[in-house]
Amino acid sequence: MWYTTHMHTATALALPNIAFIKYWGDQDPCLRIPANGSLSMNLAGLYTRTRVTFATELPEDTLTVNEQAITDVGLERVSTLLDCVRELAGVRLFATVESYSNFPIGAGIASSASAFAALSLAASAAAGRQLTESELSRLARSGSGSACRSIPGGFVEWQAGSSDEDSYAFTFAPPEHWDLVDCIVIVNQAHKAVGSTAGHALALTSPLQPARVQDAPRRLDICRRAILQRDFQAFAEIIELDSNLMHSIMITSTPPLLYWQPATLAVMRAVQELRQTGIPAAYTIDAGPNVHVLTQSSSASQVIAHLARLDGVQQILTASPGGPAILVEAGC
Ligand code: DP6
Repeated sequence: MWYTTHMHTATALALPNIAFIKYWGDQDPCLRIPANGSLSMNLAGLYTRTRVTFATELPEDTLTVNEQAITDVGLERVSTLLDCVRELAGVRLFATVESYSNFPIGAGIASSASAFAALSLAASAAAGRQLTESELSRLARSGSGSACRSIPGGFVEWQAGSSDEDSYAFTFAPPEHWDLVDCIVIVNQAHKAVGSTAGHALALTSPLQPARVQDAPRRLDICRRAILQRDFQAFAEIIELDSNLMHSIMITSTPPLLYWQPATLAVMRAVQELRQTGIPAAYTIDAGPNVHVLTQSSSASQVIAHLARLDGVQQILTASPGGPAILVEAGC
């Protein structure tokens, strides 16, 4: 317990991640224990930087995201995670949380993943606790499921587990293992209408969800092996299947969730055409209209040039495999 008047502060940086085998639906929505395991890659170049300061004079927790004060459920979610850290570290102080992301947030680029990963690392360090990677991953998971995958670096697997203790993520190949490039094709920058948390809660209203979950271990094996063997064709087929399966759940939920826009479909078609001409390209889409197109570095400029010409494409961001969440500053 602290009885000093010091400020305790730390800043952490975490990258978003793109899931190749998706998390959709929970065994336990409170603890965010997922219905199935998932696989992802961290995205270098995109980041969230978060500074957490516990201080004696604060009357409550405060949150700014890209310099805008947040007071609604966003702050509640952050305070809930801070409560876990306070409990863990025996700290009774409120905190200011200042978060900055250098990419469009809430538009299916997993901003909650980098945000809660950076928050978990910064808050635990500011509270004077040095957590192990799996402890940090579990903490981040409690804030946003996919955030547990932004704690380790490179190519990451989140083992579903069945309790708080065994549901966390770990690296299965380092970033330099494969020179993939994620071309993030932005067709709409707007904040999505239905967020992932509400979406997960609807998953079981789709009669297709049990079949999707039951088949997940098979897809995980195929995808893990394709990445380890750098087999682009196998990788492309399995990530497109997995993304299509998740969107099948979404559109057959009650009420249905349809995230695609006409330009989303145009990009999907263009990617399949590119692959038919021998260019490595594969799509995957999260809970939003934007499309992540995976390719290899030698083909990236060709893929980008082709996709940039399509109607409705506003911007294309690129990211290569990235490292783990890191602490960039800590002290009193
Ligand atoms: C479609 O991790 O954003 O991106 O735990 O409610 O914050 P919460 O959900 P979130 O869900 C991610 C859904 C997804 C697929 C994925 O990243 O695996």
